[in-house]
Amino acid sequence: MWFPLGSVLHSLWGSAPLHTLFLLSAILLILAQYLQKRRSHLNYPPGPPGLPIVGNFFQMDLKNPQIIIQKLTKKYGNIFCLHLGNLTFMIVSGLPLIKEVLINQGHVFIDRAKVPIHFHVIKTFGLIASNGQAWKQQRRFALMTLRNFGLGKKTLEDRIREEARYLTEAIREEKEQPFDPRFQINNAVSNIICSITFGYRFDYHDVQFRDLLKTLDVILHLETRSECQLFNVFPWIMKFLPGTHQKLFGEWKKLETFIEGIVKQHKENLNPEETLDYIDAYLKEMSKDNIHSSFEEKNLVFCTLDLFFAGTDTTSTTLRWALLFMAVYPEIQGKIQAEIDRVVGHSRQPTMDDKENMPYTNAAIHEVQRMGDILPFNVPRVATVDTTVGGYHVPKGTIMLTNLTSLHRDPKEWATPETFNPEHFLENGQFKKKEAFLPFSMGKRVCIGEQLARAELFLFFTCLLQKFTFQAPPNTQLSLDSEVRVTTSPVSYKICALPRAM
Ligand code: HEM
Ligand SMILES: *[C@@H]1O[C@H](CO)[C@@H](O)[C@H](O)[C@H]1NC(C)=O
Repeated sequence: MWFPLGSVLHSLWGSAPLHTLFLLSAILLILAQYLQKRRSHLNYPPGPPGLPIVGNFFQMDLKNPQIIIQKLTKKYGNIFCLHLGNLTFMIVSGLPLIKEVLINQGHVFIDRAKVPIHFHVIKTFGLIASNGQAWKQQRRFALMTLRNFGLGKKTLEDRIREEARYLTEAIREEKEQPFDPRFQINNAVSNIICSITFGYRFDYHDVQFRDLLKTLDVILHLETRSECQLFNVFPWIMKFLPGTHQKLFGEWKKLETFIEGIVKQHKENLNPEETLDYIDAYLKEMSKDNIHSSFEEKNLVFCTLDLFFAGTDTTSTTLRWALLFMAVYPEIQGKIQAEIDRVVGHSRQPTMDDKENMPYTNAAIHEVQRMGDILPFNVPRVATVDTTVGGYHVPKGTIMLTNLTSLHRDPKEWATPETFNPEHFLENGQFKKKEAFLPFSMGKRVCIGEQLARAELFLFFTCLLQKFTFQAPPNTQLSLDSEVRVTTSPVSYKICALPRAM
């Protein structure tokens, strides 16, 4: 749930203004002078001067986000601050500073901040927003459980391959007509995390499942709306006002209720001898007597919610970028298919063991993640103590955004930074790792789903390209523009999936 904070930046620049509050801020401007003076004795990082209470909220509110961000970065460089209400954001760019924050000072920036719009819903439950001992316990347990499944009947890889067969069938049903693959891909990806946490997958036409994914999608859109950001500035007022933020809270409640229902089912059917999924394993852990334990039912609901939230949209958005790039770059798609045909052939499904023999395909998937750049400002951390970064004083409580775009589009690191080009990850035909590639972040809070996501990306992608060629609909030009929401996703598109001659 914490992912949305990165999108604060986007939304600040992109969202509709609240002109009524302008007057108020004009008055407060006078007070701003005072605030600036008070801060001057320490070496604070530069940034546009803000108003007290609202900070830079109104300055953000401009029609053309990219240009403004560019201007600020040009003006203030690789490290600067923004204020929003009583939250202070710091944005660092470039590999040296990002490593400084995530690795060298990883222990300082280990926590997530309490951002009102999220705190209102999840408090400090779950995996993404929790801190301290509770976070450690929950993270360790989730990692272990993810590793163990397989525990039950099927290994994780088998589950993904089975789901890839359902996905292939669902796409075949489109009969070569133009379609938006969002729905099928989202279902397939979500089913993997559902089968790990709930113990089962859903049929793509299941009404409950459709509602669930719809709710998730609504949340991802609402999060970036200006009322929701205003809640961060004036939580104590906004709490009582109607608006988008209330709708957002309602949508979260729906997800919570859904998962509560699933937990209830599991409690009724629990067989301690046979833990088949994350919820079973968690219930077993809860039954152990330990007063210091963070394993309790409310936390179970929010941890499950976090896995669902973090594990669905990220991976499915990446796959939607992947299919789009295939349709836009047919010659690259052809090379990948040639590699699949050579290494896997037509008669069997790809497996993870094939990956090491498929450097071109592997490179292309990495390139999709580089160009997709779905979490441009990472998932923010917070300074747990006063510290210094790049020579600037960073007070405790500063929210730290690491600009991953600055790595993924760095002209010093990539031959053609703005163009899709799998050669970026190849050297003499072999796959080559790159340091400036961090879609899963790094350090102590690095994504716990990285292995799972990589397996999903590889298997879904290769299974689809083995069976189909993706093309723009006749007489259509596909756009590579992105849409601003919690994760940066391609604008909705339609493509045709042509079955390959076998
Ligand atoms: C392409 C897919 C994915 C991408 C790009 C991605 C990216 C990220 C990033 C950038 C973070 C923040 C790490 C940090 O603060 O340093 C994160 C955290 C997290 N991810 Fe992923 N992720 C993906 C898939 C998944 C999946 C499939 C799961 C499900 C198991 C998952 C679960 C989580 C969780 C629970 C956290 C919070 C970890 C913590 O705060 O300790 N992610 N992810
Ligand atoms: C992040 O990095 C990109 C690429 O270097 C740059 O264009 C952008 O302005 C940076 N954004 C911020 C907020 O620093």
